[in-house]
Amino acid sequence: MSGSANLPKTSVDPDPARTLDAHFYTDPSIFKAEQSGLFARTWQYAGHVSQVVNPGDYFTFEIAGQGLFCICGRDHKIRTFYNVCQHRAHELVQGDGNCKLLVCPYHAWTYELTGSLRSGPNVRSVPGFDRSTICLTEVRTEVLCGFIFINLDDDADDMSVWYPGVEDELRAFVPNIDQLQPLEWIEILEHCNWKVSVENYSECYHCQLNHPTFAKGVVKPETYDIQPKGHCLRHTTECQNLDRMSYSIDTNANAHAADYSSWFLWPTFSFQVYPGNVLNTYLWRPLDVDHVTVWRGWYTPDGVDNEAIRRLAVQDRATTVEEDIHLVESVQRGLRSKGYRPGPLVVDPRHGVNSEHSLLALHQWMRRALQA
Ligand code: FES
Ligand SMILES: [Fe+2]
Repeated sequence: MSGSANLPKTSVDPDPARTLDAHFYTDPSIFKAEQSGLFARTWQYAGHVSQVVNPGDYFTFEIAGQGLFCICGRDHKIRTFYNVCQHRAHELVQGDGNCKLLVCPYHAWTYELTGSLRSGPNVRSVPGFDRSTICLTEVRTEVLCGFIFINLDDDADDMSVWYPGVEDELRAFVPNIDQLQPLEWIEILEHCNWKVSVENYSECYHCQLNHPTFAKGVVKPETYDIQPKGHCLRHTTECQNLDRMSYSIDTNANAHAADYSSWFLWPTFSFQVYPGNVLNTYLWRPLDVDHVTVWRGWYTPDGVDNEAIRRLAVQDRATTVEEDIHLVESVQRGLRSKGYRPGPLVVDPRHGVNSEHSLLALHQWMRRALQA
């Protein structure tokens, strides 16, 4: 809802907030610094619990240039490790699968699912060899409503500190979230810096002109607002025309059955809920300074096929997502123009849909990440 309470008094600012300098989005050295800094110190999406249901189930992935894997222990706890053997650094696992123990393909050192070294051929012949001191390097792991996040920074605050209240809100907006499993992931390559795409997602100043379906069909643009809470950008709005949605909605099913909402978790993930408690997600996977892959995730109870959700995913891909690609790719070309000077942000003290106040928070986080 439009944030009108506790607003600072309007005053004439001789130096309004401006967009970041273009090189933040075009300079490969900035991207390199983000890879080793920002992405290694923030909560990053790894996968979904449905990928690691049974003891020994694992899947590999990469964050901040580091090979990692999640694995389900005999205690059913999900742990994440760097994918590297503590002997001579061979990778332990590839792709995904199930194993009783982790056996390194190089010299067959064997690890428990908890990461501790169990045995290795002839290691007892080494005087004083103490296997209890050898363990795979574990990575901070949290599960938020079935979504596994990791943080390479051992000292990072918990997700509940980064994103206060998000878990409770998600559970209220998606009452069956624990039953949900991915139905499909749609992968979209955008020729732009990941921050251009995230900024575009995080303001709705462009919505009325560029997203006719979204602005007329689902939300009431005059009520749309985005506010930071911790490191979450919280999108709220009232909805309209729910009878015109491509699927039927029982608006009385629960407290939020008729609501749209979104929780962007800085820096690269967002939960979105469409009316009817339909969960979908965004995941930005930065590839290099001017390419990012956006993964749109769609979910159903137990991952069971659902024609309405598939139709919705196709419709979303053809409208909002497609409309945004042209915007962000044009911006990336513009950021390389010698004619561009960082422009003032339209920050309306009353906030609301036609204000870019949400970008102030993003830019602060972006700058801070590079100063740290
Ligand atoms: S590198 Fe893994 S057992 Fe030698
Ligand atoms: Fe958009």
